Amino acid sequence: TGAVVLDRLGRPLRDLRISVTDRCNFRCVYCMPKQVFGKNFRFIPHSDMLSFEEITRLARLFVSMGVEKIRLTGGEPLLRRHVERLVGQLAGLKTPGGRPVDVTLTTNGSLLARKARTLFDAGLRRITVSLDALDDTVFMKMNDVGFRVADVLNGIEAALSAGFSPVKVNMVVKKGMNENQVLPLARYFRNTSVIVRFIEYMDVGTTNDWTDRKIVPARELLRMIDDEMPLEPLEKHYRGETAGRWRYRDGGGEIGVIASVTQAFCRDCTRLRLSTEGKLYKCLFATEGFDLRRLLRGGFSDGEIARAAISCWQRRDDRYSELRGNASAGRGRKIEMSYIGG
Ligand code: GTP
Ligand code: 5AD
Ligand code: SF4
Ligand code: SF4
Repeated sequence: TGAVVLDRLGRPLRDLRISVTDRCNFRCVYCMPKQVFGKNFRFIPHSDMLSFEEITRLARLFVSMGVEKIRLTGGEPLLRRHVERLVGQLAGLKTPGGRPVDVTLTTNGSLLARKARTLFDAGLRRITVSLDALDDTVFMKMNDVGFRVADVLNGIEAALSAGFSPVKVNMVVKKGMNENQVLPLARYFRNTSVIVRFIEYMDVGTTNDWTDRKIVPARELLRMIDDEMPLEPLEKHYRGETAGRWRYRDGGGEIGVIASVTQAFCRDCTRLRLSTEGKLYKCLFATEGFDLRRLLRGGFSDGEIARAAISCWQRRDDRYSELRGNASAGRGRKIEMSYIGG
């Protein structure tokens, strides 16, 4: 460790996304369709999940390899019991340069009103809330469990009052489903500190019945918003940021557009994903993971585990979104979004 670890395409490892549960209390049609994730679906048993101690041990090794940002995901991460304890452990990690690791979390917001304060007190400072509509009928059609918009908005309010900054909102736009919610969402969060990010619907996993006809391309999303509320571009915060950043010309705040299909950003992708059961995935669209739990539970030393992880990253040549549509992309069964957390 010490030297920067690069993959085969010269990309450094910077972000670790850790899925802490594959369960969710929503059944978003584009992520966990009920026909697949029904009563008989077998989720990961507790004994197969990494413990907080195991996760923290791995996180510390990854930080020594260059990881600066850790994002907790799910399923729904706030369903993992005492997740704030894990947040506390991770927020205590320091980069080799002595800076605290940037710890953040992506949630559906359903439990946020209750948990925002505890999470903040544990050391979480940034949070991203998914919200696909402002209209209850559309939102319930998307989450498919009858969950209401107001409860998510309360969660966002609670996060703001607890002191989270920034609070981001992720909206997945699916054609024929919720594109009429783009403007309402943009209007609602205009002139607030909340940054809404509009996301192109992606072909993650194999169960969501994706076709490219269900995408609303970033270019169209921007045109829609810009027509009513004129925009100007902002520089990315860092190379490899998923979102293109825009601000309202009149000072009404910032939005983002994540064009993962029409303008793939694999070239700068510095993200590594750790599943709930301890497998390492080099791409959101990967078909196979590297089993770190076997090493964790097999008595291997930190040095041995770190070397395995480094060599895993050094062999990485994934760039699915750039190859999408080519014959070389997509052989084997892709992992599901609820399993790896986006
Ligand atoms: P910040 O820039 O720190 O806010 O984080 P982020 O944009 O990486 O995280 P977030 O979880 O909010 O990501 C937003 C969405 O972008 C995800 O839900 C995915 O839909 C998409 N996304 C994130 N990372 C990747 C990636 O590596 N590949 C692809 N194709 N999409 C991604
Ligand atoms: N395409 C794009 N984004 C998706 N998300 C879940 N499934 C998809 C998909 N198929 C988003 C969620 C959440 C984040 C974790 O990923 O809405 O904001
Ligand atoms: Fe749950 Fe998020 Fe998937 Fe919706 S997108 S089912 S909230 S994990
Ligand atoms: Fe990274 Fe894979 Fe997404 Fe490309 S498709 S940005 S390589 S996770």
